[in-house]
Amino acid sequence: MKNSKLIETSNKKADDPYLLIKWYWTNYFKKYWLLLILGIIFMGLEGSMLGLLSYSIKAMFDEVFVPSNQSALISVGLIIFFIFFLRSFSGLLQRLIVTWVGQKVEKLLQQNLLEKLINLDITFYDKTSPGILIERMRVDTRLITSSAGTIFMTLVKDGIALISLVIVTLYIDWKWTLIAFIGAPILIIPIYFLQKWIRKISVENRNIEADLSISLDEIFHGISILKLYSLQTYRLSSFKILLEKVRKIKLKIEGGVASTPALIDFIAGIGFLGVMIFGGSQIVSGEKSIGDFMAFFTAMALIFEPLRRLSNVAGNIQVMLASAEKVHNLFCVKSEFYKNKNVKFINKDINFNGDIYFENVTLIKGKKLILNNVTFLIPSGKLVALIGKSGAGKSSILKLITGILTPTKGKIFIDNIDISLIDPQVLRSNISVIMQENQLFDETIYENVKIGKLNAKKSEILNACKLAHVSEFSDKFPEKLFTKVGPRGSNLSGGQRQRVNIARALLRDCPIFLLDEPTTALDHKSEDLLHKAFKQVIQNKTTLYISHRISSIKNADKIIVIKEGKIIEEGTHNNLIQNKSLYNDLYNLQKIEGKSE
Ligand SMILES: Nc1ncnc2c1ncn2[C@@H]1O[C@H](COP(=O)(O)OP(=O)(O)OP(=O)(O)O)[C@@H](O)[C@H]1O
Ligand SMILES: [Mg+2]
Repeated sequence: MKNSKLIETSNKKADDPYLLIKWYWTNYFKKYWLLLILGIIFMGLEGSMLGLLSYSIKAMFDEVFVPSNQSALISVGLIIFFIFFLRSFSGLLQRLIVTWVGQKVEKLLQQNLLEKLINLDITFYDKTSPGILIERMRVDTRLITSSAGTIFMTLVKDGIALISLVIVTLYIDWKWTLIAFIGAPILIIPIYFLQKWIRKISVENRNIEADLSISLDEIFHGISILKLYSLQTYRLSSFKILLEKVRKIKLKIEGGVASTPALIDFIAGIGFLGVMIFGGSQIVSGEKSIGDFMAFFTAMALIFEPLRRLSNVAGNIQVMLASAEKVHNLFCVKSEFYKNKNVKFINKDINFNGDIYFENVTLIKGKKLILNNVTFLIPSGKLVALIGKSGAGKSSILKLITGILTPTKGKIFIDNIDISLIDPQVLRSNISVIMQENQLFDETIYENVKIGKLNAKKSEILNACKLAHVSEFSDKFPEKLFTKVGPRGSNLSGGQRQRVNIARALLRDCPIFLLDEPTTALDHKSEDLLHKAFKQVIQNKTTLYISHRISSIKNADKIIVIKEGKIIEEGTHNNLIQNKSLYNDLYNLQKIEGKSE
């Protein structure tokens, strides 16, 4: 994690454009300063050639055409050729430099952002849609670097072109220049307000575009449900509404950005007219040469292109800032882990085989009380089962042990060590876990199992696949274990997916096993076979087994019954049945349904 320092020091949110630009400069662009200076030199060359070109028009008329001087034709022509040559050469080089730096920054930005996001707590992901994050990762980072490149090139190249052309016009006649730009100050106020408006609608645009990505993400993730409920027309029409919103807002931005050059053109027309009347009469009276007039008009004609682009810069900056702010805000999200910056993780060896103890643990999410003052023990090397109705808080307990959730009140200990003092990575590397949610990646079955232990030997992986009865179905595929499982495992059945998850956990083989309904999608026979496999593997491991089915857990060393976030009874199967309480009710119910045997 070589960049993590940078990522975690991003700290305060910056709404101030100056601070925002400074942050990107120091963290991303500054290291290329030498290359950027080289770029500036080439941009300067390219820009200044416009001034030279317009001034060479004067020589063309005053030295060649008006005195009909044939011999000067070649030398003036060669000078003009040389100007064009320098312009094309420097233009190419500066563009390459800007593109190279832009690509490097974009890559680093995306890399760092992913590293930052991937390390954030689950609570962040509970609140943020993957669609938004993909939009920020892919589109906003690109917008930042591409706009920064355009802005940089415009400011330097067009800035220098403008200065060189103004020098030429001033050199020819300062009064003509003054007349040509007479209307410019009028533009300052409308342009200022225009820029503010563009920034506002650019932020709006980025928000709606993120909504579009969220909508697409939901459509493609939920395509089966969408079809089953015939929601195609419904989703399509809400998508169309969003597209229309984006279209309208983009039109506004384009209109806003293009308004500045339009205003400039209008003012330029007035200037031209003034110079035409005033300067034209000076030429007629012989005060000025035709070369002066032609060079001045060439310079003026050339000025307006860079000037227009420069006037767009402010708009481009606003568009860039809208994305820059969104990306920077993501860098500013603090993870729970980093909130406790002062915590020094224990670096002595921890016995992860020890007891796991929950001491008065309360968990509140938003306003919801999920766990209410829960105290229990999972003795070292024993199998403890959790049972309770849906929503009782079982999975939350499992997530607390892995550090994915942190208690609002109370403490969790492993071998008498508070787990908040254990580096989450160390903690997790000692836990084999099967979560309730889908955990497969769009890779082969083999690779999905291997994730459990990246340095596992092939024989270990094959053994885990055999134990979890994965080979039983994978052997029927033409590519066997090397069959791709599809996005989120969509090419496998529910039970097959569970067996791959089980194989992964078995391969990992850690001192702590946490199993959240690992066999719900399996038939009774497969479930029985897997329980036999588990029994072998979890021997002497500290295990928490969550299940709705009493048949899966009745041999556990201890069963904890949980209801609405509170522990209501605990004991062995036989003890609990005698209690004639909730467990016994569940047992009787499942006996009637034939699930408890
Ligand atoms: N991110 C969250 N924000 C707010 N509440 C949540 C969040 N995750 C879960 N909950 C709530 O916490 C309660 C317990 O959830 P949990 O997943 O622990 O239940 P469970 O016992 O595992 O249920 P099931 O048997 O259905 O898997 C539920 O009422 C759920 O609505
Ligand atoms: Mg659950």
